[in-house]
Amino acid sequence: MKFFAVNGSPRPKCNTAQLLDKSLDGVKSVYPDAEVERINLYDFPFHGCKSCFACKRIGGKHYGRCVQNDDLKPVLDEISNADGVILGSPIYCSDVTGNMRCFLERFMFPFIAYSKTETVDHKRMPLAYIYTMNASEEISYQIGYHDIHDNFEKGLGSVFSEVEHLYVYETYQFKDYSRYVSDMFDEKERKHIRQTRFPKDLENAFELGKRVAIRAEQLD
Ligand SMILES: Cc1cc2nc3c(=O)[nH]c(=O)nc-3n(C[C@H](O)[C@H](O)[C@H](O)COP(=O)(O)O)c2cc1C
Repeated sequence: MKFFAVNGSPRPKCNTAQLLDKSLDGVKSVYPDAEVERINLYDFPFHGCKSCFACKRIGGKHYGRCVQNDDLKPVLDEISNADGVILGSPIYCSDVTGNMRCFLERFMFPFIAYSKTETVDHKRMPLAYIYTMNASEEISYQIGYHDIHDNFEKGLGSVFSEVEHLYVYETYQFKDYSRYVSDMFDEKERKHIRQTRFPKDLENAFELGKRVAIRAEQLD
């Protein structure tokens, strides 16, 4: 079995990456022999959907698949055959990062048939989404992050299977807050959250990974 974590953060060792790695540890705790891999979307260049509609062309040889032949193509080919995928992204300007959006356009859109009766033949798999952000839980609800992502997850879920999510709030953003203009954050409080809450967030990511693995078996 093969499971992927897709990291939408440009930082390959920070909050999102650490949570994704824990979720893959959770997968491994269920399936010790499973192959697991974290893909960092900022490691290679690629674009989002170019609206060529090759994936919707009647009788087209790329029907139901993305035709763009770039560095994302081999990644998409592998991930589309995975047994489970855990997505992770920081919130940038109220949404997931640009690279995560571009990835999702290419991962998801070809599998959506523009038809009332036809569907595209593709593998269904359990998905989970980890969001990390500066905002507190209270502010994230006030701004409406959950509404944005719940709606998107419904679409994603209709393509692959229900999406489970984990929200991680008030992340530790800099190694050394004193070097940055950052007085809108209370550094001491952030450090405390890092030391006391983040370990629980990591445990939650581990449990999320376990559930993805278990759902993979149920979807088989
Ligand atoms: C360009 C940019 C935009 C951001 N926009 C938001 C935002 O709208 N809301 C928020 O809560 N945090 C925002 N953040 C903070 C990040 O979401 C947060 O620090 C995240 O945990 C970083 O993840 P990482 O450590 O995995 O890179 C932003 C950060 C950057 C660099």
